[in-house]
Amino acid sequence: MERANLDWENLTFQYVKTDYHLEYYFKDGQWSDAKIVESDKIELSIAATALHYGQECFEGLKAFEQKDGTISIFRPDENAKRMINSAKKILMEPFPEEKFLEAVNEVVRLNRRFIPPYGSGASLYIRPLLLGTSGIVGVKPSHEYLFLVFVTPVGPYFKGGLKPIDLLVIEDIDRAAPFGTGDVKVGGNYAAGLRASKKAKDLGYNEVLYLDARHKKYIDESGPANFFGITKDNKYVTPKSSSILPSITNKSLQVIAKDMGMTVEQRPVDVEEIFDFKEAGCCGTAAVISPVKSITYRDRKVTYLEDDEVGDVCHNLYNHLRGIQLGTIEDKYGWNFKVPMD
Ligand code: PLP
Ligand code: COI
Repeated sequence: MERANLDWENLTFQYVKTDYHLEYYFKDGQWSDAKIVESDKIELSIAATALHYGQECFEGLKAFEQKDGTISIFRPDENAKRMINSAKKILMEPFPEEKFLEAVNEVVRLNRRFIPPYGSGASLYIRPLLLGTSGIVGVKPSHEYLFLVFVTPVGPYFKGGLKPIDLLVIEDIDRAAPFGTGDVKVGGNYAAGLRASKKAKDLGYNEVLYLDARHKKYIDESGPANFFGITKDNKYVTPKSSSILPSITNKSLQVIAKDMGMTVEQRPVDVEEIFDFKEAGCCGTAAVISPVKSITYRDRKVTYLEDDEVGDVCHNLYNHLRGIQLGTIEDKYGWNFKVPMD
């Protein structure tokens, strides 16, 4: 197999078309087998519920070439389960976990020449997507669905990789309501957040940091990632909230932090606590760990890192997580799912 001719070390988080994606159709009460498709276009009813009423959800996970040359996907079972929760919350037909695991293996195998080489710093991003496809003009759940999964090779989400980022607390735009859909991965949440991210970027910050919509007191999360702070006595503190996405990266970091001897607290985090942390980070599949350089809240700014030197705790967490994903640190929790390549 010859690898695709890409500049692996300099990939960014941008869509690159690969060779194939897979499609599965839900019709008459059952899911079809996989269809292998070369085109990256789909045909959809102009009245599809996904298009008008946002009846769609998606996932994001990564495959890595490990040091020994094998390919593994990081915790795909967790993404499968989260996608089932997302589907149920907006009354879509969930895509079964077993089929999800087959699908992610198959799409990686089919596009093996796009898997970034070990050591390049890049990975193969896997994007499963579920769409309501019935043409219904009334506001009702679809009875037909399309599940598709494609891959695209990616580098760091934020420019500069491990380069620390500046966050802006924005209070006049909400991403999600306490009993809304913030805890699932549906497209509407991201549409709701576009203005806040744009506002932060226009003002020279990398991303927004949201507070809870009801009290404007507790930290929720950033636009594309969860948030954590490290206290001066070395606790890993991360928000508990009904309106944030339960991040699989965050869940993994909590285990790693405990293994590193840290105390982990998942609880409402008062925004005032940012002034007491010694380090902070954003975490997610795309973001991995993006160390936070500063947070601006109203007329106050806290700066954790004077230059772009990453703090020790974020550095250790990052190295440990990446080490497991790349097969250089023992995967003692069985997080890596090997892709059978033949
Ligand atoms: N929060 C939001 C809003 C996200 O889009 C993501 C990305 O998936 C995350 C958090 C991080 O979740 P995970 O670590 O499962 O990728
Ligand atoms: C991911 O981290 O996988 C995400 O889906 C975040 C997205 C906004 C790129």
